Amino acid sequence: MSRSVKEVEALILEAGRKARRETSAEPEPELVRPAEWPIQCTVGPGLEGAIACESKVGYVNGAKGWLIYRGYDVFELCAHSNFEEVSYLLLHGRLPSASEYAAFRKTLAEYRHLHSTLRAVLGFPVERMSTMAALRLGVMMMRQELTHMDEKEWHPRAMSVIGADEDSIPMETVPRGDKHAIYEFKRRRRLGPGPSGNGDEGSGLGACYHLIAGLSTVAAAVARVHRGRLPIEPDPDLGHAANFLYMMTGRRPSPVEEKVMDVALILHADHGMNASTFAAMVVASTLSDFYFSVGSGIAALNGPLHGGANEQVIHTLEEVREAGDVGVWLDKAAAAKRKIPGFGHRVYKAYDPRARVLGPLAEFLAQGEGETTDLFAVARQLETHVVERLGQSKQIFPNVDFYSGLVYRALGIQTEMFTPIFAVSRVAGWTARVLEYLENNRIFRPRARYVGEFGKEYVPLEDRG
Ligand code: COA
Repeated sequence: MSRSVKEVEALILEAGRKARRETSAEPEPELVRPAEWPIQCTVGPGLEGAIACESKVGYVNGAKGWLIYRGYDVFELCAHSNFEEVSYLLLHGRLPSASEYAAFRKTLAEYRHLHSTLRAVLGFPVERMSTMAALRLGVMMMRQELTHMDEKEWHPRAMSVIGADEDSIPMETVPRGDKHAIYEFKRRRRLGPGPSGNGDEGSGLGACYHLIAGLSTVAAAVARVHRGRLPIEPDPDLGHAANFLYMMTGRRPSPVEEKVMDVALILHADHGMNASTFAAMVVASTLSDFYFSVGSGIAALNGPLHGGANEQVIHTLEEVREAGDVGVWLDKAAAAKRKIPGFGHRVYKAYDPRARVLGPLAEFLAQGEGETTDLFAVARQLETHVVERLGQSKQIFPNVDFYSGLVYRALGIQTEMFTPIFAVSRVAGWTARVLEYLENNRIFRPRARYVGEFGKEYVPLEDRG
């Protein structure tokens, strides 16, 4: 790839200008301010419209197509920042100083080494599990590696069950001439208590760092095992996005590939009270810990109405290409009342700002790349048709998932990793929001409206016919 990072930045900034132009007619939103609790709001099914808490982490405005993290426009962050800096911003509420940034990068690089976790995870049939199930398993194993909270009940010890002599087994052949690519399971580093210093390693800032760093290692290992390969040891000299790509593909990425991966991770890092964030927060509100919360976030993200949509998009594009005619394919989909993956959004009734960035990046990466070029052409046609039919009438536009898969495919990433990548990024938002919520925690407890029967008389089993 001979193109430059500057070109990628220019595409992002242009996407931001286009977004502002196209939504300038929308009224400016009433700027947000703290509420007097209890508040009144109109709530629909699926808690639509419900306001459950206050947050300073991020803001989504569906009519303007705004996505803001801690006051910064996501277009600006994508153009100028990287995933580590954005994670710091989300967790701490401000951009780091140079020394804070260096220290944070170093901590993440250290936390990427998950020897016991990977050894435990590889004791399971990961190659036959869904990648999201394996990722969730990895998070539970990370919890075990870092915390001692369950030790009394921990019987039998997982490590002794999984195998006796892994410490001596070299786990990977050196890929494509890269040195230090063998995951050295024998090297163990005892991680000290997290920066919270409260000794409760499952619930402090240290757990957030551990999860942000570690999810990338687990996801990359799962990607390798799914391709019949063994994990690759993290490279401490690489940034988070570059290292993640390296651990998945076995190849150190070019600066453009690293930049694109950073942008994808930034774009997915936080998005209001979406289903997985809410799931993570509900679990945290019971004073369970960050690992259980993130595990629940992963579980919620797995569904095709949420994170799973990006994989469905690729399958759909392949199906449409086979069908040969986008219009005919859409007619059939509409007749079958099928929702088109990658379109529509509960909040955005304008073009999703994340799709505004990922669309041009997918196009940029697809140029001259054979199969990706074909699929991109199908995607553009599908977008044109769907927006023509449903844009005005139902405010249906591409969402974040529509182009993300094409971007990942151009980076050499297999389809079953698209949703885990979403988790590798969203863990920053999950942990930031949980951390914030716990400052004023109140257990989540909405109500259901009972529409069942009353006054029924119990009939013994033998009399029920
Ligand atoms: N394709 C075709 N029609 C769609 C559509 C899609 N992807 N998404 C919504 N619609 C239509 C619905 O059929 C409905 O039409 P109706 O009013 O005639 O019944 C209308 O738009 C409202 O849809 P609804 O499902 O009520 O919106 P929602 O806010 O509950 O759901 C999503 C939002 C994201 C779950 C929904 O748009 C969807 O399923 N999209 C596809 C999956 C996807 O890409 N998910 C990733 C989200 S980031």
